[in-house]
Amino acid sequence: NQPMIYYPVSTLINSGVKDIMIISTPLDQVLFQRLLGDGSQWGVNFEYEIQEKPEGIAQSLLIASPWLNGSPPVLILGDNLFFGPDIYSKVNNALISNNGATLFGYKVDDPERFGVVEFDNNNQAISIEEKPKLPKSNWAVTGLYIFNEKAVSYAKGLKKSDRGEYEITDINKLYLKEGELKVVLLDSGYSWLDTGTHDSLLKASNFVKDTELKSGIKVAELKKV
Ligand code: G1P
Repeated sequence: NQPMIYYPVSTLINSGVKDIMIISTPLDQVLFQRLLGDGSQWGVNFEYEIQEKPEGIAQSLLIASPWLNGSPPVLILGDNLFFGPDIYSKVNNALISNNGATLFGYKVDDPERFGVVEFDNNNQAISIEEKPKLPKSNWAVTGLYIFNEKAVSYAKGLKKSDRGEYEITDINKLYLKEGELKVVLLDSGYSWLDTGTHDSLLKASNFVKDTELKSGIKVAELKKV
């Protein structure tokens, strides 16, 4: 019922993020600019940058580096939808208390499609793997990453993976190695949808329709200022 980009953008804005860089393909940039403008209608500031080729999520940290100018980034994927009780204060708390990297885990039936995090008995993350054939848990790493300022230098040292991408999972692994990775678990009271395939986009559309009809709550509310 709204452009997909409104969903992740509203997660950031409603969690208190004010300066947002939209990174897209060269062809899409003008469309996003036309749709979202400079952000002043929602009391935020949008900047735009291009990723020339699909060379991985972690490349966004390099693209944004001059703009970040040493500030800590929070990154959200344009095809991710988060919904659930107090999700915005949960994200806001994580932004305030982050001490390295904070990720959000969500239990899924098809973990092999995602980054997968494994925990020890104390719920501490002990491994993260990108699209493992034999996943060590059902906990997917969702597309919302809160980092401290070290993320950019970590990104500068990355090598491309076998699929030709700079992997965000490799950044997360560096934080894990340093003992600076926290994973906030979103239980079944929350919904997380990755809409990167036609099927999952349809599923998300139906989810939004059903949820809004049932609860009367808008899944992504952007308030005009
Ligand atoms: C990406 C990440 C993966 C993460 C997923 C969340 O996958 O690489 O770790 O779990 O986003 O949406 P991709 O979109 O590249 O398949």
